[in-house]
Amino acid sequence: MTLDSPKEIYIDNAATTSMRKEVLDAMIPYFSENYGNPSSLYSIAQIARDAVDESRENVSNILNCRPSEIIFTSGGTESDNMAIIGVAKALKDTGNHLITTKIEHHAVIHAMEELESTGYKVSYLNVDEEGFINLEELESKINSNTSLISIMLANNETGTIQNLSEISKIAKNKAKQFEREIYIHTDAVQAAGKLDLDVKELGVDMMSLSGHKIKGPKGVGCLYIKKGIPIAPIILGGGQERQRRSGTENVPGIVGFSKALVLADNEKNTFNSHCKKLVEELRLNLKNIKYEYDIVTPTKNSLSNILNICFKGFEGEPILIGLDMDGIFASSGSACSSASLEPSHVLISMGIDPKLAIGSIRFSFSMENTLDEIQFLTNSLESVLSELSLLAQR
Ligand SMILES: Cc1ncc(COP(=O)(O)O)c(C=O)c1O
Repeated sequence: MTLDSPKEIYIDNAATTSMRKEVLDAMIPYFSENYGNPSSLYSIAQIARDAVDESRENVSNILNCRPSEIIFTSGGTESDNMAIIGVAKALKDTGNHLITTKIEHHAVIHAMEELESTGYKVSYLNVDEEGFINLEELESKINSNTSLISIMLANNETGTIQNLSEISKIAKNKAKQFEREIYIHTDAVQAAGKLDLDVKELGVDMMSLSGHKIKGPKGVGCLYIKKGIPIAPIILGGGQERQRRSGTENVPGIVGFSKALVLADNEKNTFNSHCKKLVEELRLNLKNIKYEYDIVTPTKNSLSNILNICFKGFEGEPILIGLDMDGIFASSGSACSSASLEPSHVLISMGIDPKLAIGSIRFSFSMENTLDEIQFLTNSLESVLSELSLLAQR
């Protein structure tokens, strides 16, 4: 923990990202001269309304949907809540069964638990040791009351990517068999800027996105809702966003979110090849350290920028503190659960021994990270682990 750090090394981009200058520049006029309320009638309001409309169009081009199918929200959590609680509420009398997985973000899991407490039935799908669901299990859980399936596109802790287009085919076939509609929601918060978000290719009816994971602003995101999907609003008030999400639009946030999404989506190939190199280098470097570890991120079908490693015989927190002292910022599991010492629900669901799971560190990279930083990280990790083992022996 005495290494001279060249600078701060931020490798927690799955928790949040720094905002791009172009995004900030695009937002600034909507905090100042273009401050109008998009719902008002006069000309400065029209400028704000045009900016929201243009942003909606930009987002819809990336998702391959209609602009009217995009609802701006306060981010991934609200979008997940809205998709799940909104559809469940609208379909309570015709289908009170929902399906999700055991490895979803808490924005999905807690929404599902809330529904369970009011009488809905929820099936939580198992995952294998790499975090993939079993498509046969999914098929077997769909019944004549199933109205909604919510499965994340990419996991925030391990980077595991689910096969949404297969999931959707299975669900739609079953829906035909039961002569009912089954809607598919995906949390694509971590997938944006890394994977294609074409909702038609993926076969999804709803998709959640968030600004701050893609070098955009915090507190803004969107939910794609396919035309015709019954959904009850969860935020009530002035009826903005076509009566679906009340509240005066966060104009600068919406402008920033759409700008960040356009840039991230355009640059995703460069991003993926850059991060792939960094992750490969780290995997290679780790082979030479003298401590035991398990990499829980799958080598195939995982995000390019996430590597989750469980260090045997160590706890994540002291490792993070040691890395922090060298100017390296990473996380143990997801940012929202890192305040608790409980092993991550994702890793436990993957069948990882809780004793190993508490030694998990998630590294998540961006274009700003370099190969030199990977070398520095490896050296720092070795020295932190060595100091922690010495302390444990005392
Ligand atoms: C997969 C996933 N879903 C949802 C969220 C919540 O997004 P937000 O922070 O925008 O509410 C996050 C953020 O940690 C996430 O990683």
